[in-house]
Amino acid sequence: PNSLKLGLAGLGTVGAGVLRLLDAHAGQIAARAGRPVQVVAVSARDRSKKRDAVIDNYRWVDDPIALAQDPEIDAFVELMGGEEGIPKESVEAALKAGKHVVTANKALLAHHGVALAKLAEENDVALNFEAAVAGGIPIVKVMRESLQGNAISRVYGILNGTCNYILTLMQEEGATFDDALKEAQEKGYAEADPTFDIGGFDTAHKLALLTSLAFGVETAFEDIYVEGIQRIAAADIEAADRLGYRLKLLGVAAATEHGIEQRVHPAMVAKHTPVAETFGAQNCVLIDGDFVEDVMLSGQGAGAGPTASAVMGDIIELARGHIFAPFATKTADLKPYPKAE
Ligand code: NDP
Ligand code: HSE
Repeated sequence: PNSLKLGLAGLGTVGAGVLRLLDAHAGQIAARAGRPVQVVAVSARDRSKKRDAVIDNYRWVDDPIALAQDPEIDAFVELMGGEEGIPKESVEAALKAGKHVVTANKALLAHHGVALAKLAEENDVALNFEAAVAGGIPIVKVMRESLQGNAISRVYGILNGTCNYILTLMQEEGATFDDALKEAQEKGYAEADPTFDIGGFDTAHKLALLTSLAFGVETAFEDIYVEGIQRIAAADIEAADRLGYRLKLLGVAAATEHGIEQRVHPAMVAKHTPVAETFGAQNCVLIDGDFVEDVMLSGQGAGAGPTASAVMGDIIELARGHIFAPFATKTADLKPYPKAE
């Protein structure tokens, strides 16, 4: 059978992880997808950078935007990151050229997701983004497919691995904020600019996508109240501990009588609850649906392996010929309400 041919841009933590996963499981993936999955060309910023040997096997293209429209590819895998510039232009170019897109780029989708989803719909191609929310946890497919029959009243949880890793090390091992952040960066959990993690913005990007999937509304990143973890001190952690709580950075979207409330901030969470027991780079997502009742998913929210697992799930879905509508491109009756100034 014809293989699914991919162009992959971004060879950092996630891109290299995807190539390693494909290298390790190519036979199994072909059997399960019904046809081989093949990376035909790759791109990144600096061709001369020393990289994993697995990466040397692929044709190099200097310009990701040219790769996105390469006549040889069926799908473009965007693993560069960032909301503007080349990542955005390459995804737009791919969709306009009739190529499916798989991306892990929540910043891009939180800001431009509606326009990109419309482009995907117009060109009859997929825009898959399982890895953009909570790393290895298969939350996008659950929201987009399995729970579609429910009226959802709330979706919330721990959505950033770096922050949870920092808080865990500060709380459980007495580490300093700076040392814990450095370790999270070394493990490949943090964004290229970690301000996005510790400032709460990465959680907000993911929450914008979850809100759209849960409530059928357009993403409304600007309406999210965002507070990060930078000001949490050892004394705050000790005080919470004495009272029987752990400090966690939460993202919460809830239906209220005024509309959909969206907020990101640190919260005291009672010990011995599943959210408080989510440690290290793990994330958890909790959903309240009217028929399904309470659902909770947890797992690794960041890192090369878990994120590659999510990206490959999206690729296999494409190879099987499944194309789902990305997420809401219209605002439903219940709208996110603007944050208080
Ligand atoms: P890295 O910084 O490790 O890698 C980024 C890669 O993209 C590098 O290979 C870099 O090139 C390339 N790149 C960046 N900007 C450009 C550009 N303008 N033009 C060409 N190439 C470019 O990032 P990650 O792998 O950690 O993250 C990639 C994406 O996945 C981001 O959107 C991130 O938010 C998302 N993500 C990350 C997770 C994680 O755990 N790390 C988890 C879930 C999602 P070069 O190597 O030459 O510098
Ligand atoms: N920087 C992100 C995190 C990567 O720490 O959760 C996963 O989206």
